[in-house]
Amino acid sequence: MESKLLFGDAVAFATPALAVFAIDTQTEKTAEPVPGLLIGSDQVEDAARALLASGEFKAAVGEVAVLHSPTGLKAERLLLVGLGKAGDLSADSLRKGSGAAARAAKARGIRNLAIAAPETETPATIDPALSTRAIVEGAEIAEPDFDTYRSDRKDRSVESLTLIAAEAQRTAVQRGFDEGRIVAAAQNFARSLVNEPGNVLTPTELGKRTKAMCDTAGLKCEVFSSEKIQELKMGAFWAVAKGSAEPPALIVMTYEPANAPEAPVLGLVGKGITFDTGGISIKPADGMEKMKYDMAGAAAMIGAMHAIARLKPAVKVISVICSAENMPDGSSYKPGDVVTAMSGKTIEVVNTDAEGRLVLSDGLHYAKTLGCTHLINAATLTGAVSIALGNLNFGVFSNDDATCERFLDGLAVSGEKGWRLPCTDDYRDHIKSEIADIMNTGKNRYGGAISGAMFLKEFAGETPWVHLDIAGTAWNETPKPWLAYGPSGVAVRSILEWVRSFAS
Ligand code: BES
Ligand code: MN
Ligand code: ZN
Repeated sequence: MESKLLFGDAVAFATPALAVFAIDTQTEKTAEPVPGLLIGSDQVEDAARALLASGEFKAAVGEVAVLHSPTGLKAERLLLVGLGKAGDLSADSLRKGSGAAARAAKARGIRNLAIAAPETETPATIDPALSTRAIVEGAEIAEPDFDTYRSDRKDRSVESLTLIAAEAQRTAVQRGFDEGRIVAAAQNFARSLVNEPGNVLTPTELGKRTKAMCDTAGLKCEVFSSEKIQELKMGAFWAVAKGSAEPPALIVMTYEPANAPEAPVLGLVGKGITFDTGGISIKPADGMEKMKYDMAGAAAMIGAMHAIARLKPAVKVISVICSAENMPDGSSYKPGDVVTAMSGKTIEVVNTDAEGRLVLSDGLHYAKTLGCTHLINAATLTGAVSIALGNLNFGVFSNDDATCERFLDGLAVSGEKGWRLPCTDDYRDHIKSEIADIMNTGKNRYGGAISGAMFLKEFAGETPWVHLDIAGTAWNETPKPWLAYGPSGVAVRSILEWVRSFAS
């Protein structure tokens, strides 16, 4: 889908479909929802009057009603798009509403869609750059379906989106529009990687695709394999990698703009397990096919780097991706094995299915040796994070309040949901081993997401660090009006905001 920005009058724009936003202005005094339009146009009001009066359209978030041949408008159809309660109006409801409009258009085979930006004189005015960005992101993220492998696929793609905005605050609107396109493209790139099956997206292929992206975006990218991993004495990463016929990939992307200060140097570390069978501690067959998305943390970092290369914040960033397959084999690592991480710490392997923390331990340490002063990692680390938080919030863990607050503040801009969970030192006995410095599982299943975080924290050491456990949020199991089934691309936007917060 190609998005365009037009400054002008939506009513006079000839299009197969014009979407306008509506909010529910119900108060305590009204028994029913009272939908109100976010566009001050008599023609649109007239065209929508009967429908609004009918009570059939409630302006709930993601609700879409379609009116054909609206009189007074140049558009062939008028789409009324609900944003929910007036008091809850936010950039995020715009993102969802715009997404619902794009998917509603797609379902109807509408190839060209126009959206009227909400007008600034509406009661709940939101920052024009941010709201514009949210509308563009919402539509561009909602439009794709990950059905490339289906031969019965009907191409119903929406070819163009025209966002129509008023002249007021033209510069801010243009900036929001440009940013929205960049961020959505980065997130969709991450999603396309996560969607690939394990037989296609091997660690080597992930390296190739990352390198190709970096070449176009103007980022430095190096891809290493087994030899380098052993040379660097990444004993934990290698333990996981050595059980597979597919060679691992250690991917390093570097963004060093001339205008950035020497410090900070941000390290973005991603878990890139292209398929997780569990290894010798093999997983049950039920649902194992989903473990192709065990590289979603890596994809989030690669997506974020894509956006960073294009938005050019004045801060140095290095991304380290640890990619391997976790397989059972004669050469696999085994429960009871003791491995030595690059940092020198010894690890007792209790369960080979806790492989993510092993590859990341070396990734985090390596990022520090490359000069990173602040670390963030993303990983589909534990099933336990879904038990704790469900599938709405990803888990946020940190060893430094200021660095964590910075990340959490960015959620207001990214519109993503993350919830901080503890990883204070009093949890350290979760990973205490009798045999080695630490072990790779918790003592029991309780607080499993915290045990994973405690393990990683050992390798962040004194360096300020944020860990995102996205196991419950990286795959969208239930389609939403604004999001297709499949890879969500979660965390790309929030990681990007964290990075931007360091740029002067
Ligand atoms: N990749 C899984 C975590 C996961 C589970 C991701 C469900 C997405 C959906 C991870 O490698 C894993 O297997 N973790 C184990 C850890 C345990 C053995 C300590 C888990 O969560 O069961
Ligand atoms: Mn696993
Ligand atoms: Zn895994």
